[in-house]
Amino acid sequence: MQHDKVLILDFGSQYTQLIARRVRELNIYCEIHPFNKIPSNIQDYKAVVLSGSPNSVRGEDALHPDLSEIRGKKPMLAVCYGAQYLAHFSGGNVAPSNTREYGRAHLSYIKEDIFFRHVKEGSQVWMSHSDTIKELPTNGVLLASTHDVENAAFKIEGETTYAIQFHPEVYHSTDGKQILENFLVEIAKVNQDWTPDSFVDETVENLKATLGNDKVVLGLSGGVDSTVAAVLLNKAIGQNLYCVFVNNGLLRKNEFESVLNQYEGMGLNVKGVDASARFLDALAGESDPEKKRKAIGRVFIEVFDDEAHLIEDVKWLAQGTIYPDVIESVSATGGPSATIKSHHNVGGLPDFMKLKVVEPLKALFKDEVRRVGASMGIDPELLGRHPFPGPGLAIRILGDITEEKVRILQEVDAIFINGLKEWNLYNDVWQAGAMLLPVNSVGVMGDERTYEKCVALRAVESTDGMTADWVNLPYEFLQKTSNDIINKVKGVNRVVYDISSKPPATIEWE
Ligand code: XMP
Repeated sequence: MQHDKVLILDFGSQYTQLIARRVRELNIYCEIHPFNKIPSNIQDYKAVVLSGSPNSVRGEDALHPDLSEIRGKKPMLAVCYGAQYLAHFSGGNVAPSNTREYGRAHLSYIKEDIFFRHVKEGSQVWMSHSDTIKELPTNGVLLASTHDVENAAFKIEGETTYAIQFHPEVYHSTDGKQILENFLVEIAKVNQDWTPDSFVDETVENLKATLGNDKVVLGLSGGVDSTVAAVLLNKAIGQNLYCVFVNNGLLRKNEFESVLNQYEGMGLNVKGVDASARFLDALAGESDPEKKRKAIGRVFIEVFDDEAHLIEDVKWLAQGTIYPDVIESVSATGGPSATIKSHHNVGGLPDFMKLKVVEPLKALFKDEVRRVGASMGIDPELLGRHPFPGPGLAIRILGDITEEKVRILQEVDAIFINGLKEWNLYNDVWQAGAMLLPVNSVGVMGDERTYEKCVALRAVESTDGMTADWVNLPYEFLQKTSNDIINKVKGVNRVVYDISSKPPATIEWE
């Protein structure tokens, strides 16, 4: 089945991904492409959205898309830079703003239009621009203004071309999603047929057709992406999917056994490989965070390569790559073009990297991966798990790593995480964990002086890990957790709570 597709042309705005997410929330399939790489099958797209940009249309670095196959030929919505581009190069005028135009503004209608269906006069919209449109382009019809921005929304007479100075994609534009829906559904007549169920059905059919009877190997991590990818592939090719779940000895307490059980219960053909000793050997005596990461990455590849060799005639490597990984490696403004990853026939790489690559989730955002997982009946607890870094506890043990330190941190972490669950706080937190600090401090237990380790607890709220703030956990919870840790975990006599935001701190301590 072919879905209606929407093209989002990216001019480098920090919000471009948000446009795509809002469109997908409307159950409409869309793709982001750089402004200067319009897909050759442009006729297959039902509508086009032009994103904002950090550049100015008046500058020498103004970005010039070739819109000859789009403008006037299919519905087009121009946002911010896109709107200024339309004005500047089509008979209008753009000039620097006299006032700073950032943040909240309110719509005031000039002319009624279906574009603002169900959006009340005065609706809040979010502005973020330093140029302003002084004169509309040829055939421009003004639809709405705000207090500071006269030409806030306009259309072009005789075309299905709309332009807005504000950002409908950000949450602070209260009716932004409604406006996008009005444009895409009412004006461009795009079908809302991109649903998790339809994605599962079509992907399974495609995987069957592509993979046939071939064998596929996939590394499971216990995280959401690799799990959902595995379940999809399992639906398509069953036992021809060989999943490998590696214990690097740096997972959470009992994680290896419990997640492996869970995978087996889901009917996956999974092999658990306990390579803890190999990882700990490679890490012995190493305290530099980046060298620790590299050692873990190297050993993982060795272990995975060994396992892939045991599968006779394996042809494919499956990965849980998601859409943000793909678009992050595409630059809108010059830079290397869309060479994402090339695992094919590259000399010197491990054998499994010479396999053909299949990435069933590479069109999905994280929240869509969760929705798809839920629609396939994956345990909500598994889908709602906090992110956990690949190098695991190695980057939460500051300094060098020993088996004893791993044991201590696993115990501390388990008390903290189980406590969050018991107190119903787990889902209010985006990520939580404990750090084992490389300091000993003096304490007193009974009548004895102690000189033991200090641990730091960290719990943050975030949407993507790029920025984060510490969570205001209840004092009673922190008090109980601290008591439990010090009483139950031998070797720890002090607990602190990290109250740093990111930036300037980071989430992990290493
Ligand atoms: P930071 O510490 O940079 O972390 O604020 C942001 C997010 O990334 C995770 N993280 C990693 N994940 N390998 C990973 O797979 C790593 O080396 C790594 N370092 C940090 C971190 O847990 C947080 O979610």
